[in-house]
Amino acid sequence: MQRFQKAAEKCAEKIKKCDEAIVVSHIDADGLTSAGIMCKALERLQKPYEARFAKKLDEAALKSIADSCGGRLVIFTDLGSGALATIKSLGIDAVVTDHHRPAPVEYECHMNPHLYGLNGSTEISGAGVAFLLALRLGDNVDLSTLAIVGAVGDLQDMRSNALVGVNRDILELATSRGFISYEKDIKLFGRQTRPVYKLLQYSSDPFIPGLSGCEDACIAFIEGAGVPIKTDVWRRWIDLLPDEKKTITSKLFQYCMSCGMPAHKIQRLVGEVYTLLKEEPGTELRDASEYSTLLNATARYDYADVGLAVCMGDRGEAFNYARDLLEAHRHNLVNGLNLVADKGVCRLSNLQYFNAQGEIRETIVGIIAGMSSSLDCVSRDLPIIGLAKSDGGIKVSARGNHDLILRGLNLAVALSEAAAAVGGVGGGHDIAAGATIPEGKEDEFLAILDKKIGEQLKGD
Ligand code: C5P
Ligand code: C5P
Ligand code: C5P
Ligand code: ZN
Repeated sequence: MQRFQKAAEKCAEKIKKCDEAIVVSHIDADGLTSAGIMCKALERLQKPYEARFAKKLDEAALKSIADSCGGRLVIFTDLGSGALATIKSLGIDAVVTDHHRPAPVEYECHMNPHLYGLNGSTEISGAGVAFLLALRLGDNVDLSTLAIVGAVGDLQDMRSNALVGVNRDILELATSRGFISYEKDIKLFGRQTRPVYKLLQYSSDPFIPGLSGCEDACIAFIEGAGVPIKTDVWRRWIDLLPDEKKTITSKLFQYCMSCGMPAHKIQRLVGEVYTLLKEEPGTELRDASEYSTLLNATARYDYADVGLAVCMGDRGEAFNYARDLLEAHRHNLVNGLNLVADKGVCRLSNLQYFNAQGEIRETIVGIIAGMSSSLDCVSRDLPIIGLAKSDGGIKVSARGNHDLILRGLNLAVALSEAAAAVGGVGGGHDIAAGATIPEGKEDEFLAILDKKIGEQLKGD
């Protein structure tokens, strides 16, 4: 941690000396919150800045940055560690802050947890790294909320059912200053904004047999617990009395046990949840998980500027626009899931896949792959791979689950190797990874991936 802080100091010095900066970040919730932190810190230093977002940082994207930066300092957040060689060779004057596995290249102003024995998939996100840097740039403790939203957006709290590592330190700091509170609660998505039964209906990890995906059964379940499901409007989780919450949670535990669900899965039904105390109750922004979904609904549809404005404090026009985008995002997720349900998935020996071609946007095929584990046609015993058309070829997104990880699955390794074998590139994390491969290579790629995953799971 001390050496990590030293790197932060070095990056901060460079930023303080610059006249003007460009912030380049990733188009997801963690990328947006990272950019929000950095832009806010620059604003407070009264440094002019421009924010840009990239789906991926390939050579073409870097060339265009090099051509247009005009001597400004380029600050990369939530990406860049894999592209240090190109950043150097193009002569871009940069500060790189990231949490993805770095390329083995020396770079002067570079912050990445992996370089200091910290885990960038579980202990700190891109926003956390940007926050550590922002702390060196001024009084920016309030930006800790964005660091927590970024970590939750990357699902870094999933493995231990709570934030750990540096994320935990940031959480304690945010809590001590009254920005955030955390508690153990039901850990289903939508506690602030969705009708209670929807929390059960959309539960995909863990999958609850007989409830996940079954609206009527979920309504009956809540009513059967003696909890009124509706007053004049649908009641949300935050509208329930403490006793009502307890009743539903314990009935849910009993139900899951009676279904024979293993204890470690049942335990994942509750976990730590994070409340942003300065945000309006009942809005997406009040809950770290819902906040991150709102951000995904902007950046993944080319509206990163809207999400960034929300991160920077806009609660008017941009926030309302983001909510409209969220509506559309939810429809797209439902349509995407229906498409998978209708078409079904194809099974190979060690994986299952669906090919959405042009019918699912490449930027959300990963989310749909992740959520599809709640569908009947998708087995929880195999990783799920989604394919969709993209500008540069075929976008691949892969999602596993905790049981598969315990059996040896590492999707980042499998995808990067299989993609490389057909002339593509891939990477990510053990539980979630992605790739882009050339069009026409889908079958060959899937066959290689199937074999690689088989080898990983054989160590059973
Ligand atoms: O690019 P990046 O690291 O930001 O994204 C992490 C991805 O991994 C997200 O899409 C996140 O939802 C996914 N993930 C997952 N399950 C986990 C942890 C992460 O699907 N348990
Ligand atoms: O790309 P990643 O895998 O992070 O995407 C997962 C996203 O899907 C999260 O942002 C989460 O908020 C959203 N989600 C949802 N409803 C669920 C589960 C996840 O909207 N039931
Ligand atoms: O795009 P998707 O949501 O499936 O990405 C899952 C994870 O894989 C993310 O962490 C993303 O940054 C990573 N990824 C990668 N290289 C790619 C595509 C995705 O490292 N070519
Ligand atoms: Zn990230």
